[in-house]
Amino acid sequence: MVNDTPRIEPRRLPIHLARMSPQLPAMPHDPWADHYESVMALTFGELYEQMTSSTLAEVDRLVPADATILDLGAGAGRMALPLARSGRRVIAVDRSERMLAVLQRSSSALDPEVAGRIEPVRAAISEPGPIGPVDLVLCVFTVVAYCLTENELRSTFRAAFEAMPAGGPFLLDAPQPEIFESMEIESGDLIRTVSMDEVDPGIHEYREHTVLRTPGGPIEYRDSFRLRLWSSDEIERGLRGSGFTTIEDVTDRFPDLGARYLVARGSGVTSSAE
Ligand SMILES: C[S@@+](CC[C@H](N)C(=O)[O-])C[C@H]1O[C@@H](n2cnc3c(N)ncnc32)[C@H](O)[C@@H]1O
Repeated sequence: MVNDTPRIEPRRLPIHLARMSPQLPAMPHDPWADHYESVMALTFGELYEQMTSSTLAEVDRLVPADATILDLGAGAGRMALPLARSGRRVIAVDRSERMLAVLQRSSSALDPEVAGRIEPVRAAISEPGPIGPVDLVLCVFTVVAYCLTENELRSTFRAAFEAMPAGGPFLLDAPQPEIFESMEIESGDLIRTVSMDEVDPGIHEYREHTVLRTPGGPIEYRDSFRLRLWSSDEIERGLRGSGFTTIEDVTDRFPDLGARYLVARGSGVTSSAE
């Protein structure tokens, strides 16, 4: 996590705080949406690119090049953008207006035909509204940890299930305990402190304070929200209770990422699934 580039000296430089629109309720990630991808790339280095390429390879294995994909918790478009470039249509659901704004800005720089394949939807993943049918649902990079209750987890899985009436694959990751550890990173362009405190069994208070060097000068932001560590049993019970009937563990294709990767499938929507 530490590299050789000169250290940023935050106290000597003018800093402006990332601002949020006063009209919108603050959502996790809003304060740093504009810098989210840079911060993640600096934090995780090659592992971040590896995570993206492994996920794209898995999608290639699961669905054809003209598939329609529902990306739950799509964020700034780490997956939606390359998936659209690969020919897929992507419905990108996220509750953070600012993360979706970054996704839209990035997609507007693409070929209009590619950009036209991305449909951003501002909604909760547990209640995305009528969506589909799609060929694959994606819910990756810790998104399930943002579900704090069993109802929320179950509704999210149910939304994934219902978006694929033909019983397509649901690719998700289930973060493991190492993801819920505090960390401090100091590199040439980034000073980042993330603390995680377990405030209730499984529920962690995530607090972040970061200073990032950008071409426009250093920026500083803080964010805090709660995350939940779900056990493998809880995830599998949630999937089965939402209608999925088979669960394939594909973690060996996603090494060193601190998460279990699963492909769940249903045999199609039935009214009997709870
Ligand atoms: C860690 S980011 C992952 C983004 C993206 N999936 C990726 O792989 O880069 C988590 C994203 O999930 C979104 N998110 C978290 N909980 C959500 C919810 N209940 N409904 C909609 N979006 C949610 C956040 O706004 C954020 O953009």
